[in-house]
Amino acid sequence: MKLVTAVVRPERVQQVKEALFQAGISGITLSRVSGHGGEQSVVEHYRGTRVMVEFHDKVEFRMVVSDPFVQAAIDAICKGARTGEVGDGKIFVQPMERVIRIRTGEEDTAALTPVTETKLSPDQP
Ligand SMILES: Nc1ncnc2c1ncn2[C@@H]1O[C@H](COP(=O)(O)OP(=O)(O)OP(=O)(O)O)[C@@H](O)[C@H]1O
Ligand SMILES: [Mg+2]
Repeated sequence: MKLVTAVVRPERVQQVKEALFQAGISGITLSRVSGHGGEQSVVEHYRGTRVMVEFHDKVEFRMVVSDPFVQAAIDAICKGARTGEVGDGKIFVQPMERVIRIRTGEEDTAALTPVTETKLSPDQP
């Protein structure tokens, strides 16, 4: 299992969401964040303190996926987020030790498996 974290442009959030859902990845946490990339920073002095300006509004996606889904997640994020201009964002992949689904007590990959379609379908009572 891996934690995939992606920082993307806010205006690409919808495309990233759609690409992830199409790739079968639906367990996702989103946060608004403020970020600075590899670009040269502008440093200003404010009341005697050095302040780094030019932090940009970004959105952070976090998803824990089983190993076979890691590349699909990366491909989906790139497909949804890439404009080709600087500031498109970055993806980080980290090992994930344990996952527990609170409702059932299921652990690890069992806890990551989505709820079955039948439970979600409005056609099936
Ligand atoms: N090394 C890093 N660690 C943590 N967050 C980062 C890192 N690099 C980028 N980020 C986050 O990703 C956002 C977008 O980064 P950005 O796309 O500008 O990266 P970059 O390395 O400068 O690439 P580019 O040259 O395409 O702009 C940043 O605002 C920041 O939130
Ligand atoms: Mg940058």
